[in-house]
Amino acid sequence: MCGIVGYIGSRPAAPILIKGLHQLEYRGYDSAGIAVGGPDHPQLQVFKAKGKVDNLEANVHRALPLPDTPLTTGIGHTRWATHGEPSETNAHPHLSMSGDLALVHNGIIENYQLLKEQLTEFGYTFKSQTDTEVLVQLIDYFYQKNGRQLTKAVHQALDKAIGAYAIVVMEKDDCRHLVAARKASPLVIGIGKDYSEFFIGSDATPLVEYTHKVIYLDDEQVADIRIGQEVQITNLDESSADVTIKDVDLDISALSKGGYPHFMLKEICEQPHCMENSMRGRVICREDGLYEIKLSALNHFKAKLIRARHVIIVACGTSWHAGLIGKQLIEEMCRIRVEVEYASEFRYRNPVIEKDDVVIAISQSGETADTLAAIQLAKEQGALVFGIVNGVGSSIARATDTGIYIHVGPEIGVASTKAFTGQVTVLTMLSLALAHALGTLSDEAFQQTCHELAAIPRKMETVLQQNDRIEQLSGRFTYARNFLYLGRGYNYPVALEGALKLKEISYIHAEGYPAAEMKHGPIALVDKEMPIVCLTAHDQLYRKVISNMQEVQSRNGRIFAVVTEGDDEVRRIAEEVIEIPDTMPCLLPLLSVIPMQLLAYHVAVKKGLDVDMPRNLAKSVTVE
Ligand code: G6P
Repeated sequence: MCGIVGYIGSRPAAPILIKGLHQLEYRGYDSAGIAVGGPDHPQLQVFKAKGKVDNLEANVHRALPLPDTPLTTGIGHTRWATHGEPSETNAHPHLSMSGDLALVHNGIIENYQLLKEQLTEFGYTFKSQTDTEVLVQLIDYFYQKNGRQLTKAVHQALDKAIGAYAIVVMEKDDCRHLVAARKASPLVIGIGKDYSEFFIGSDATPLVEYTHKVIYLDDEQVADIRIGQEVQITNLDESSADVTIKDVDLDISALSKGGYPHFMLKEICEQPHCMENSMRGRVICREDGLYEIKLSALNHFKAKLIRARHVIIVACGTSWHAGLIGKQLIEEMCRIRVEVEYASEFRYRNPVIEKDDVVIAISQSGETADTLAAIQLAKEQGALVFGIVNGVGSSIARATDTGIYIHVGPEIGVASTKAFTGQVTVLTMLSLALAHALGTLSDEAFQQTCHELAAIPRKMETVLQQNDRIEQLSGRFTYARNFLYLGRGYNYPVALEGALKLKEISYIHAEGYPAAEMKHGPIALVDKEMPIVCLTAHDQLYRKVISNMQEVQSRNGRIFAVVTEGDDEVRRIAEEVIEIPDTMPCLLPLLSVIPMQLLAYHVAVKKGLDVDMPRNLAKSVTVE
């Protein structure tokens, strides 16, 4: 969702901003823009385009004689429309009516209508339908009133604004200066050598090429950024705040496609390696051949975690599906009651959270607004909040009491793949470690599960070898308007995830269902046009799923099944089967989800769709 970049220094700003916006494209957006200025330059120049950053780049190239332009300051933005349609007028940056200030903004100003009415009374007029234009006019109002002190004006305006934001403001008069602020939406400031230049991003992706020294702005903070000086940070109440400079550790090769046609395919194929990274130093095979699980997050909070009588998992999207698997793992291995909640619902209910409850927040980006709000609520009610996060240093990683990074590297494809298997891996390790501490799993079962978990990356490779076959057969399904995905037990959340993947990138309607529940409704949809994906690997529910498949077969549905290697029985019922290696039921999702990801990917590619950036979706959903 919306992305922010900013630069001040001595280099031409526009190319840096455009490159940064390209690197943020994965977040999802529908228009883009930059504003640039420079010392001795009479006006801020704004360029905008609907659609891709490429369109913006073409506009900028036509207008600016790069690279010898003296425009060395700028801000840029990719917008994912919330207030007002995607258009050039609504795209950021927004200029104040005076032309003195330009602003980029992620988030939503909830009371913008009221502020707009008040500003209109003071003579302000508006060109766009956005809440962001209201904010820049509000800052301008205080700026003109207080003798053009930008940082003070930002404080005064934010004092009146209700909502969530990450903003960067630049002023025409002083192009050696930017002001940034955040509340519930992330912002990172990269520091160049000797403070000679600064790079700003809504995440660290556009900065790492230039610097590894960063400041993660905390919630409700305002940063005064001036060339040649240390960054000054104040809290919203204008008291001064400590400034902590951190080293950011992001592998830049993860930001390129590395020879694959799409990030999504690269990320699907990376999963064996990612899972190894996720388990490194955590699933340990000792010299005597026995396994142990070491999770540093458990060191300080072990007592609280094993005392938990009730676990609540909060998440959104694919992370919520991982949570459903986590529920089964924790309940089966640890015998602790687990609920899985959509973060967006949890935050607005009055959920029952008791002393000794543990809330587990799962998030790839670590920035999902609803999940962050759910964490806040859980903390207010005294729960221990445990994070399972990919985004290192992200808002959720910092808001939780403790947690485990999944360590699968940046995920760029909007449809989540390797983060899902990373989350399930961490949930498995966590369940094993807790069960071991609680004594709810026999030593034999513990050892067997750890041994099998360590073998999964090799088995994932076997599944990935079927990529070509899945590609071939995917061509047969592009006509479909509806798909049904069926699974039971550990494979039920995989059915939901398979349906979500297909919907997200191929725009085919798909529903995931517990296989037996299908009789209570979806079976009415089954006819010879309807592809039905059945997850039928060997587990305790195998026979039951076969009965469900027969119900579908007798209504002429076209069955595509995922089975355990060597299964002949399903082959007789299904039109197509994809085999996966045998494994324990609790580890099945780590293998069975891969054909789901590949099927969705190839169907979307065959339909000629933009797999990495599907329409209307955002990678990081920073508004509720
Ligand atoms: C968006 C993404 C999904 C993701 C969901 C939750 O909808 O497109 O891929 O599963 O947000 O995001 P999170 O970063 O919290 O896992």
